[in-house]
Amino acid sequence: MGVTGAFFSPTGGTKRALEAVCGLFQEGAELVEITGPDRQGRKLGREDLLVLALPVYAGQIPAVPGLLDGWEGEDTPCVLVAAYGNRHYDDALAQMKRLMGERGFRCAGAAAVVTPHIFAPTLGVCRPDQADLAVLTDFARQVREKLARPDWAEAQVPGNPSPAPRAAVPVKKDRDWDICLGCGFCAQVCPTGAMDRQSLLWDDKKCISCMACVAHCPVGALGYNSAALAARLTEKFSQPRPVETFL
Ligand SMILES: Cc1cc2nc3c(=O)[nH]c(=O)nc-3n(C[C@H](O)[C@H](O)[C@H](O)COP(=O)(O)O)c2cc1C
Ligand code: SF4
Ligand code: SF4
Repeated sequence: MGVTGAFFSPTGGTKRALEAVCGLFQEGAELVEITGPDRQGRKLGREDLLVLALPVYAGQIPAVPGLLDGWEGEDTPCVLVAAYGNRHYDDALAQMKRLMGERGFRCAGAAAVVTPHIFAPTLGVCRPDQADLAVLTDFARQVREKLARPDWAEAQVPGNPSPAPRAAVPVKKDRDWDICLGCGFCAQVCPTGAMDRQSLLWDDKKCISCMACVAHCPVGALGYNSAALAARLTEKFSQPRPVETFL
């Protein structure tokens, strides 16, 4: 069984969760980025396993046009990972299962994994942690056992597979032009093409507030202030949520 990990991870948390899960299936599994300048798709066969990890935005998968384009399976088993910042993952796993089903993949298992919340510094800190890894290790064992049976059934996941699009609370960004190098890297990594490659200005209508541009700026010229949102989230969602798995 060849294991491929695929991810969208603007600020790194989803990638860390994917590495943890992929490593439980195969050491040194290939990891593929599905957005940005190095974006790739793959055609996978019946003997392969895809582990797909996406961050949760407003309880859904990120609204990146063509996010899963280029991925094609042939009744290929997949494991779905929703990385979220300790509020909730709502419809994200159900959406992922539907979209991957339409592309020829069968969901053998799914996990909702808590990761640091980019807008609320105290939520999801140091997650996934050792306790999460213990749950995920058991989950990976059960998925392997399931896949060894010829007649395995797809995992049932909660949520609405086709929810109406829901916009995330917008978070305002700014750039310090005095230190900006004009290198354009922020525009290159923008998954939605919201940032113009010449003027380096962004279009708020296309921006999904993923903060990839902020995270990738080599000199820290981009920033945002999420203090008000962080206060609201922290007040309501500070109780650490467990990793949830579905088989
Ligand atoms: C625009 C936006 C919306 C988000 N919405 C949610 C949400 O609905 N529920 C939640 O628990 N976390 C939410 N988060 C937190 C992310 O799911 C979490 O920070 C994730 O790990 C980010 O992935 P990354 O580190 O790979 O960029 C949101 C983050 C962003 C940027
Ligand atoms: S990545 Fe940073 S330094 Fe480079 S153009 Fe963008 S804001 Fe300026
Ligand atoms: S401009 Fe918006 S969508 Fe593009 S990388 Fe920055 S935050 Fe993400």
